[in-house]
Amino acid sequence: MARRKKIYEGKAKTLFEGPEPGTIVQYFKDDATAFNAEKHDIIEGKGVLNNILSEYFMQGLGQIGVPTHFLKRLNMREQLVRSCEIIPLEIIVRNYAAGTVCKRLGLEEGTQMPRPIVEYCYKDDSLGDPLVSEEHIAAFGWASQQDMEDILSLALRVNDFMSGVFYAVGIRLVDFKIEIGRVYNGDFQRLVVADEISPDSCRLWDIETGRKLDKDVFRRDLGSLTDAYTEVARRLGVMPNNPPAAGKPTLVN
Ligand code: C5P
Repeated sequence: MARRKKIYEGKAKTLFEGPEPGTIVQYFKDDATAFNAEKHDIIEGKGVLNNILSEYFMQGLGQIGVPTHFLKRLNMREQLVRSCEIIPLEIIVRNYAAGTVCKRLGLEEGTQMPRPIVEYCYKDDSLGDPLVSEEHIAAFGWASQQDMEDILSLALRVNDFMSGVFYAVGIRLVDFKIEIGRVYNGDFQRLVVADEISPDSCRLWDIETGRKLDKDVFRRDLGSLTDAYTEVARRLGVMPNNPPAAGKPTLVN
């Protein structure tokens, strides 16, 4: 059997050349990293859950007319996506204060934002993905003025959709990060939501109890990450047929 070509290995995913030109296979790993990879662990089953959850969100976005790179899920750990040129920005949308915005602005965690706030970070691990302004983005040519208008509109549509989906299952979408890619069609380009949308890239709090159901469980040692992600998948009705084993053995009577 021919070995497939690895295109890129990231912290949580590996990309392989897809079966058709213009396609890529995204393999979801079990690696969890935080604080720019200073903290690293293997969380059994995380890749399976993120693959299925990302499929769920990307398909849902497609159904409401938000273009994404997603084509189809291939198996428990892999999905086929359209190859695109990733814009070197992390687009963050915040509905409530948490994480870096609390440190930066001295806000108390959980403070509701006056309206959804969109931030841009320059994607560069060696610099720690610094916050940048639209001036930097325009001056360094990372995205055009038209791209920025389209990115803002996509980010807010993703926020509306995901906030609603989570609210329906008793979860508050505190914030999230997306990445946007360019797909070329002849002389034209189209922007699509790319990478992944999963509890690795969102902050999700249970509305009733405030329990954290996202990567902060790992960042802040708050318990089992698999349990948290499994709870998200269970509420959304997308649990895989063979749920990944939880972190520790359980006694069965
Ligand atoms: O760390 P910060 O508070 O800026 O993160 C905001 C949101 O973006 C969080 O949901 C976090 O998980 C996500 N994020 C991400 N990847 C990064 C930085 C932030 O998924 N490199």
